[in-house]
Amino acid sequence: MSGPWVEIDLKVLEANIRQVRSVLRPETSIVFVVKANAYGHGLKAVAERAFSAGVGGFAVAYVREALELRRSLSALPIFLIGVAEPVDVSALIEHRIVPVLTSLEQARALDRAAALHGRPLPVHVKVDTGMGRLGFPWHEIASVIPELQRLTHLDAAGICTHFASIEPAQPDPAFTQYARFCTARELLEEAWGKPLFSHVSSSLPFLFKHEWDFNAVRPGILLYGYEAGGALDRVTTEPILQWKTHVIQVKTVPAGATIGYGGTHVTNQATDIATISAGYADGYPRALSNKGIVLIGGKRCPVVGRVSMNWITVDVGPSSGTKPGDEVVLIGRQGSASIWADEVAERCDTISYEILTGIHASVERRYVG
Ligand SMILES: Cc1ncc(COP(=O)(O)O)c(C=O)c1O
Repeated sequence: MSGPWVEIDLKVLEANIRQVRSVLRPETSIVFVVKANAYGHGLKAVAERAFSAGVGGFAVAYVREALELRRSLSALPIFLIGVAEPVDVSALIEHRIVPVLTSLEQARALDRAAALHGRPLPVHVKVDTGMGRLGFPWHEIASVIPELQRLTHLDAAGICTHFASIEPAQPDPAFTQYARFCTARELLEEAWGKPLFSHVSSSLPFLFKHEWDFNAVRPGILLYGYEAGGALDRVTTEPILQWKTHVIQVKTVPAGATIGYGGTHVTNQATDIATISAGYADGYPRALSNKGIVLIGGKRCPVVGRVSMNWITVDVGPSSGTKPGDEVVLIGRQGSASIWADEVAERCDTISYEILTGIHASVERRYVG
């Protein structure tokens, strides 16, 4: 019997995009973050449907992702939000991929490489307003402007930043980052004498403050169906990915039976143990050993024993009627039961992003809708 597979509902993706689109001003575009193989959903299929649903551009981390995207989408802007290197410059210019500038050293190197091309390289200046990761520290912007202006083979077309945290109950760090961004933007726009295409909001800031939409918003996880709701209810979106597999063996065991490597689970009654075809090699976290929940027969059933490389053992209860071939849902819904990536994540102390991007690339993606 084959292993697990993923089902992605592109109609739900479309609906999610429409939701976000419907609350934006017409002139604000959605730059959809599709790095990491569209958060594990499959870059090509997701990007093509997103394009037809009204997304205005895409953001990726690596040049190879940008090039893959460009093969399917000839027209839309593609932003490289990782760090471009001089060797990338000819591909960036030729395929109209816009990188972010993250430091003066990188800017100088890109400028030298662009000089060989006869066409300037459009770039967006990335300002580090408090994330502490990539970009020009906000307090150094004034001092780097003269040097940036000397790099005539770069065309500063935009400016962006990324928020480290959005806590509606404690919004001060986000407001501080926003204020720093506005200061940096003012300085750069004044120096270049033109408005810069500005984008700051990933999913949570987008939900938090419509005043921060600027020229584009840059959501990822929200369009894959997570993080909406709760205190931040500007839109609601639905998960688009389900992860499924099959039962491959069922055995009835007595009370006191040990299950899996290390015998970490001991049954407290006679019960049916279903072995299912998925494991940590497929991306199901080993940290879900004795903690996970899967859906079988429309019921939430506990993962018992250690998750192994290709198989997981599940207690489906006494006289369950479960049989080999029954469908199992690792993420998704079955009848009225559901388990979504955010709950899976919480059960093993991580975030939905890591669960989704962790589904191994070899797991077949099937598209519906
Ligand atoms: C720079 C940048 N912008 C936007 C996003 C999208 O974030 P989210 O998926 O939380 O919307 C990310 C995600 O990692 C990012 O690194």
